Amino acid sequence: MAGAAFAAPVFFPHQQEFTIIMNLVRSTLLGVFFVSFAIIAAVPAVAEDAAVGLVASATPDESKRLFLRCKACHTANKGGPNRMGPNLWGIIGQKKASVPGFRYSPALKKLTGEWDYESLSKFLENPRGYARGTRMAFPGLKDPRQRAAVIAYLREQADKPAPLPQASAPSAAPAPQAAMVEDFDGLPPGEGREETHAICAACHSLRIVQQQGLSAERWDELLVWMTEKQGMPKLPADERQRIIAYLAKNYGPDRGGRMRTNPMMPSMPPMPMAPMMPAMPPMPPGP
Ligand code: HEC
Ligand code: HEC
Repeated sequence: MAGAAFAAPVFFPHQQEFTIIMNLVRSTLLGVFFVSFAIIAAVPAVAEDAAVGLVASATPDESKRLFLRCKACHTANKGGPNRMGPNLWGIIGQKKASVPGFRYSPALKKLTGEWDYESLSKFLENPRGYARGTRMAFPGLKDPRQRAAVIAYLREQADKPAPLPQASAPSAAPAPQAAMVEDFDGLPPGEGREETHAICAACHSLRIVQQQGLSAERWDELLVWMTEKQGMPKLPADERQRIIAYLAKNYGPDRGGRMRTNPMMPSMPPMPMAPMMPAMPPMPPGP
């Protein structure tokens, strides 16, 4: 075996050939090392915003999953209605704050130019940082791969998708699987977790969900209240069912949650409207 020969050069019968081979191996390894170094070093030059360089490598599955985060407030299909936020069909390349029939905040109306990959990524990373005073109550996607995934999704929701931004060197881009690991803000694993997280974390902290202990029937009622009074969109029936089943399983009555604070309880006075994010009132400590 070659390994054994290298490890024990004393026993190598042709010392000179051995040295030549070793030099060859060494220079090849060195070459590989420098080439990969050059690729890594070249990445920032390709895409200044890491998310933009990763758009081309986002998988359709990731993209769809990430858009769940937006679905509470946005449609993205052609001719879809404006909800809490404007319809996002054809948003890439479109003039900012120009969806017909949507009433934008002054903060958004002040923006100039079109949405391109870079500006979209900056906005999604930190909406309030990008457009101070925006009404988009969304904390932002800090992970570049998550932004890349959702931007890839939006790119396809258009009559003519914009050309893909230049991809970063594949050897330097971390594996997408590793990228998409999420902690789901402490929601336990199980069927329906992703949808529950995506929809319910869109407007408020999940802590107010986790402190409940409700039967499936009560969760169902609470979601009706969330839709009718709090602006949560109507969910497709199967998705809604999965969320209710997940909530009842993990935050059911046997978990001893704060059942009595539920606004659906008939004995409770109507809930005062608390301001939405960022001024969430602190939750009292759990039982
Ligand atoms: C809690 C509701 C909410 C969520 C969740 C949300 N948005 Fe928004 N979005 C809004 C609102 C409201 C506006 C309009 C903001 C304004 O006028 O200040 C907006 C505006 C936008 C705009 C600018 C549109 C234009 O016409 O210029 C884009 C792009 C956008 N959102 C993308 C997203 C994406 C992508 C996600 C998911 C990662 C997301 N939003 C999640 C509510 C939301
Ligand atoms: C479009 C925004 C929006 C979405 C999406 C949303 N909520 Fe809410 N939710 C609210 C608002 C607004 C309140 C009441 C104000 C507050 O307490 O901050 C609220 C309050 C609550 C409460 C507290 C009720 C109490 O006892 O005080 C629970 C529990 C809750 N939501 C669960 C959910 C669950 C579960 C989901 C996902 C299926 C969800 N919410 C999705 C806007 C939303």
